[in-house]
Amino acid sequence: MKKWLLLLMTAGLAAALAACGTSSNNSNASGDDKTLIMATSADYPPFESKDGDKVVGFDVDLATALAKKNGYKIEIQDMDFASLVSALKTNKADIVLAGMTPTEKRKKQVDFSDVYYNAENLVVSKKSSGIKAEKDLKDKTVGVQLGSIQQDEANGFQKKYNLTVEDRNKISDIIQEIKAGRFDAAIIEDKVAAGYLEKEKEFQAFGLNSSNEGSAIAFKKNSDLTAKFNKSLKEMKDNGELDQLIKKWFADEK
Ligand code: ARG
Repeated sequence: MKKWLLLLMTAGLAAALAACGTSSNNSNASGDDKTLIMATSADYPPFESKDGDKVVGFDVDLATALAKKNGYKIEIQDMDFASLVSALKTNKADIVLAGMTPTEKRKKQVDFSDVYYNAENLVVSKKSSGIKAEKDLKDKTVGVQLGSIQQDEANGFQKKYNLTVEDRNKISDIIQEIKAGRFDAAIIEDKVAAGYLEKEKEFQAFGLNSSNEGSAIAFKKNSDLTAKFNKSLKEMKDNGELDQLIKKWFADEK
C-alpha cells in the first residue's frame, strides 16, 4: 500500500474515533439531541405511578414543562428506585425525577436542581399495631424502600430500638407486607403515605422529627442542563406554574 494512502486512512480513522468520543460524552442518553430520557421509579403516587402502560404524575408534568421550556421532549424509563443514580452515571438517563431527595451522599455522584417540593417522613402502621410514637418502634420490623433516605433513617433507629429493617424495591410491596402482618410498620414520605392512608382504613400514621429536604431533579455530574432547568424552575415558581401543578396532583393543597 502506498504510504500516503495509509496516512490518509489513519487520519480518517482518528477523526472517526474522535467524533465517536465527543458524541458519547456530550450527547443525550436517547442519542437524539432533542429528547431527554427521564428515569423514575413509578411506584410513588402522586409523584409518579403507572396508568396502564403510561407513567403519570407530578414529576412527569414538571419534567415535561421544564424540558419544553428548553426545547426538549421527554422519554420516560421506569426502573427500581435504587437504580436511578447509576442510570445517570452510565448515560442511560439524562434526568431523574422520582421524588428524590438531594442528599450529600448522592451529591457525590450526581448534581441536583433546587428543591421543588418539601416532604416529611411518616411511620405508617395498622391501627391495631399500637405504634403511636417513635418509642413504640422497639423490637419491631419496619419496611423501607431500597436505596431511599427512609432506609437510612430506619438504619439509624436500628440500634436504639432493636429494630429489624426490611427493604423492598416498591412501596406497594411494603404496604402488602404490612397488610399481611409481616412488617409492623413502614417509613414513607407524607404525600405518598397519604394516598395509602386514604385507601386503607385500617392504617394510621405519625410524623418523625427527622429532616427530609424534599425533592429535586438529579442530573449527570457537570451537565449543562442543571443551570438551564434551575432557571426554568425558578420561572415556574415565580409565575405560579409550579403551584398549579402542585394543586393538580396534591389534593390537600387546593
Ligand atoms: N425521597 C426519598 C429519597 O429520595 C424517597 C423517594 C422514593 N421515590 C420513588 N419514586 N419511589 O430517598
